[in-house]
Amino acid sequence: MKTLKIANIPGDGVGKEVVPAATEVLHAIAELHGNLKFEFTEFPWSCEYYLEHNVMMPEDGLETLKEFDAIFLGAVGNLELVPDHVSLWGMLIKIRREFEQVINIRPAKLLKGVRSPLVNPKDFDMMVVRENSEGEYSSIGGNIYKDEDEIAIQNAVFSRKASERAMRYAFDLAAKRGKHVTSATKSNGIIYSMPFWDKVFKEVSKDYPDIKTDSQHIDALAAFFVTHPDKFDVIVASNLFGDILTDLGAAIMGSVGIAPAANINVNGKYPSMFEPVHGSAPDIIGKGIANPIGQIWTAKMMLDHFGEEELGSTLLDIVESVTNDGFLTPDIGGTNTTKEVTDEIIKRIKNYK
Ligand code: NAI
Ligand code: MG
Repeated sequence: MKTLKIANIPGDGVGKEVVPAATEVLHAIAELHGNLKFEFTEFPWSCEYYLEHNVMMPEDGLETLKEFDAIFLGAVGNLELVPDHVSLWGMLIKIRREFEQVINIRPAKLLKGVRSPLVNPKDFDMMVVRENSEGEYSSIGGNIYKDEDEIAIQNAVFSRKASERAMRYAFDLAAKRGKHVTSATKSNGIIYSMPFWDKVFKEVSKDYPDIKTDSQHIDALAAFFVTHPDKFDVIVASNLFGDILTDLGAAIMGSVGIAPAANINVNGKYPSMFEPVHGSAPDIIGKGIANPIGQIWTAKMMLDHFGEEELGSTLLDIVESVTNDGFLTPDIGGTNTTKEVTDEIIKRIKNYK
């Protein structure tokens, strides 16, 4: 029996509604597998926890989490209780940094039965691989002078190691998918880092002769996400470009409530963290209408990560059959509750042959 030890952190707001739903789904899917078991341990770390303890998680929180195979997180943030920079930096960002989760991946795929804001979205299914440790989001730079002479300098950092790492991850992923990698560049305007990025991409691509490649400037690439999202398979991007592309990807899927994500540790020293794109959704807390699909799809990414890709695709197929039959929460135009959608997914897992 393969047992996966998962640290559940529901966090705040709708995180507390969708994490239990996705956990139930994972138990059901493990039963379908027959030889797989999930052991969940729940941690109450959140803004409410902060009010009581003055920290988002205990001092030895990271030590505790280190022992798990993965972290399954809902959402963090409650502006009425704690300022966002305190809650985000006190836990989420700490975990991502300390656990060297250097790659962020987010799929963008149109589920059957869900309407995209695009008029003619066609049938897109792509995965954005974002370098998550350096690039434009570096802390190198500074400010000098005052008033009208004031200057801010922000340096972007591109190492061969991190660029190559993200690219290899993208190629390995493409090998299991549509066999195409697009590199997001801007070497016509950014004349040191981006030609370097292009050079590394070319070198890495030589190790993957079966995978087709192309490079697109980020501005044109963003436009293609709107006009021809179906043309992409895997896209590899720097930290900033990836950040923007993944939000665009989530937008064309129809709702932030269905978009999943994963922060991947690639050296195997620490667990990876799986969390949907959405936040705590304060406007719908307690109404029972949070879309559970973002969290459930995130669970599918966790299955893929543990080599259970077949089970992962079965889960996503079932989710898609449910949306296609009109079981939809209000954010994607339906009237169903979190529970109704979750129960339907679980029912179909149990009846799956
Ligand atoms: P949000 O993602 O929480 O909500 C944006 C909109 O999407 C709202 O209208 C909300 O109702 C809707 N929405 C989000 N998730 C949904 C779901 N599962 N089903 C149906 N509708 C859903 O973003 P917002 O309002 O900017 O942030 C709220 C709080 O969440 C803030 O404290 C913010 O810092 C935090 N946040 C945390 C994130 C994380 O934990 N990774 C990511 C984004 C925001
Ligand atoms: Mg973003």
